[in-house]
Amino acid sequence: MNFLSDTTAPAHPALIEAISRANEGFAPSYGNDALSARVEARLKEIFETDLKLVFTNSGTAANALALSVLSPPHGMVLCHDEAHIHRDERGAPEFFTGGAKLLPLPGDHARIDVAAIEDALAQWPQDFVHAPPPRVLSLSNLTESGTAYSPADLAARIGPAKEKGLHVHIDGARFANALVSTGASPAQMSWKAGADALSLGATKNGALAAEAVILFPSVMDRFAELQARQKRAGQMAAKMRFVAAQFEAWLANDFWLDLAAHANAMARRLADGLAHYDGVDLAHPVEGNEIFVTLPDATAQTLRDAGAGFYQWPDGSARFVASWATTEADVDAALGTLGQ
Ligand SMILES: Cc1ncc(COP(=O)(O)O)c(C=O)c1O
Repeated sequence: MNFLSDTTAPAHPALIEAISRANEGFAPSYGNDALSARVEARLKEIFETDLKLVFTNSGTAANALALSVLSPPHGMVLCHDEAHIHRDERGAPEFFTGGAKLLPLPGDHARIDVAAIEDALAQWPQDFVHAPPPRVLSLSNLTESGTAYSPADLAARIGPAKEKGLHVHIDGARFANALVSTGASPAQMSWKAGADALSLGATKNGALAAEAVILFPSVMDRFAELQARQKRAGQMAAKMRFVAAQFEAWLANDFWLDLAAHANAMARRLADGLAHYDGVDLAHPVEGNEIFVTLPDATAQTLRDAGAGFYQWPDGSARFVASWATTEADVDAALGTLGQ
């Protein structure tokens, strides 16, 4: 009954086996191995475009590195007020960009209001020497409230940003969950919607310290800079083949989507079950593997006393996260503690 986070789940045995299979003989280091090349080729097929990528070991590093090649030090990154880059990365985006300013914007359920983007773009000029110019729009998909932007939602927000020449970054720590939730293709949810760079997270969806920064063709000429920054940030792991091995197994035969579909289904099962209890209300629509509910104190205590793990969120709701490893039995056991 551990619903604390998808980061508390074990790595999937199939990915551990992939690491084990890669543990054979000698291989070029620092990402120059055959497995890394195969992952790049596979991602080109999946995203239906040319692309370049580097691996990182954390989502924070992926986000901060992506932003560092999209924004100059004097630029501004528009994001949601709840964005992980704003609230939860201890200033890494500011540090890696060399001081870019983050401009947090409002919007229900952690989706940035289109009007807030338009207002910010109108208020903050591109070419006034005294003001930090908006240079990047960063959208999280899933969002920090567990909601998903559809391709149309993305287009509505990215359109005005592109008109002003901004680059677009997607924090895809839970990109696979957003894909299965919307049914859209990886291309539709990224470069076809106008994204220039994507942080593609595997760790929350079965992997072990495996994340990637993907540059799409619009900014692929920045790849050498991205690699230099990856090294400088201490994110160029010497034995990168073991990260690549996980990605290869994760992407094969839609395994990444199957894992995410399972996690989303478990979150849905828990949300539907909790909805039957008095005083339990969803704080946000459930569109992925996270649910946020307001719980009466007694209900929360009953769950805790029975050993269910979940976090009290700053907005007063309780956050439950399902993962590839969550079982129907886990969900039903948690619901069972609340009686009929
Ligand atoms: C939306 C989002 N982005 C990025 C991250 C960063 O991941 P990490 O904890 O690996 O740095 C997280 C982790 O919780 C997240 O939820």
